Amino acid sequence: MTGSGRGVHVTGWGSYVPSQVLTNADLETMVETSDEWIVSRTGICERRIAGPGETTASMAAVAGLRAIAVAGLKPDDIDLILVGTLTPDYPMPSTAALVKDAIGNKRAAAMDLAAACSGFVYGYATAHAYIASGMATNVLVIGAETLSRCTDFTDRGTCILFGDAAGAAVLSASDEPGGTLGIELTTEPAGAYYIWLPAGGAARPATNATLAAGEHYMKMKGSETFRMAVRTLGSTSLKALEKAGLGLPDVDLVIPHQANVRIIEGLARSLDFPMERVFVNVDHYGNTSAASVPLALAEAVGSGRVKQGDRLLLVAFGAGLTSGAIALQWTADPALSARAESIGPGDVSVLPGYLEPVNPFPPALEWLLKRSAGG
Ligand SMILES: CC(C)(COP(=O)(O)OP(=O)(O)OC[C@H]1O[C@@H](n2cnc3c(N)ncnc32)[C@H](O)[C@@H]1OP(=O)(O)O)[C@@H](O)C(=O)NCCC(=O)NCCS
Repeated sequence: MTGSGRGVHVTGWGSYVPSQVLTNADLETMVETSDEWIVSRTGICERRIAGPGETTASMAAVAGLRAIAVAGLKPDDIDLILVGTLTPDYPMPSTAALVKDAIGNKRAAAMDLAAACSGFVYGYATAHAYIASGMATNVLVIGAETLSRCTDFTDRGTCILFGDAAGAAVLSASDEPGGTLGIELTTEPAGAYYIWLPAGGAARPATNATLAAGEHYMKMKGSETFRMAVRTLGSTSLKALEKAGLGLPDVDLVIPHQANVRIIEGLARSLDFPMERVFVNVDHYGNTSAASVPLALAEAVGSGRVKQGDRLLLVAFGAGLTSGAIALQWTADPALSARAESIGPGDVSVLPGYLEPVNPFPPALEWLLKRSAGG
């Protein structure tokens, strides 16, 4: 266990991805690009796009409820709900507050966490601290994003990368051996403007001018981000392992942030770690920011890549530039994944909007709706 206090274990996991698929062939019809370019530079083949009625809160709630079911808990057993996201439903109230209502929890504290693509790992670390100190017993940590709503589908440098999804984990106090072994979090503001969303905050409130300039879309310096990502992921991983008293040969599976397969391969190369022990699903989902690590974790456990006793390394980086790594020993029975199967969007209730509902679906993708409807 890391630090003093009680042991902290992952007892539940779950994810949700929207049904609409946006392929590289689809993007070829929208911007000057090719499937060959996207696959060779990123490893991404397709990504999911949230439907008109889906938001970060609605997807987060399904993933969260699945994780609670896998843990064998009821929603009211959760003491704290943390949602890592850069695409909250609103600047306020928090998405976590909406999720609390949607899953039917009556007693948890709930808050959002802004650490971009490292949001889930930062949330895990926060949950660990609450549990180890005795302030909470069961914490629901969610990473959820609707990146399609802040993606410029005319910018080929970014629109090929991102997708929508949610992933979740329940962390619980337990005295059995294993669980969290080491945590490292870093923030390097030198890269603060490598990936950013300029307008809509206090520095540049949304106006007709910011809208016309497209400043409500994500902007990115791709190659600078790429270099910093490989370096930071490596150093953060090693520090978390050092705190856990582990070496790289002790690690059974690395579950990295799924931004780009070349970044993941660069990390493995820099650590001299075999790619066979690195989990990759970026090909199907693209970069889903804070959702990416818990989505990959749930898929790795559900598909039999994780066994009880395995030592895992979760590692992420994102805007800020933030980075975080968690070394842990897995103790839950992977077969419990099946408990999530019966839970779907119909099992969560989402607070009705106060204002008249506005269809937030990206106009650039209206055609995708028609195709999904079979039209
Ligand atoms: C975005 C990224 C895939 C671009 O790959 P790259 O190998 O760095 O490519 P470059 O940016 O150097 O661009 C090379 C060329 O391809 C072009 N290009 C960019 N996007 C393209 C696309 N989708 N299709 C075709 N060509 C493209 C560029 O315009 C450039 O052309 P030029 O040489 O004529 O100027 C890569 O930099 C990356 O993944 N960076 C990290 C991004 C990331 O992970 N962000 C999230 C962090 S959480």
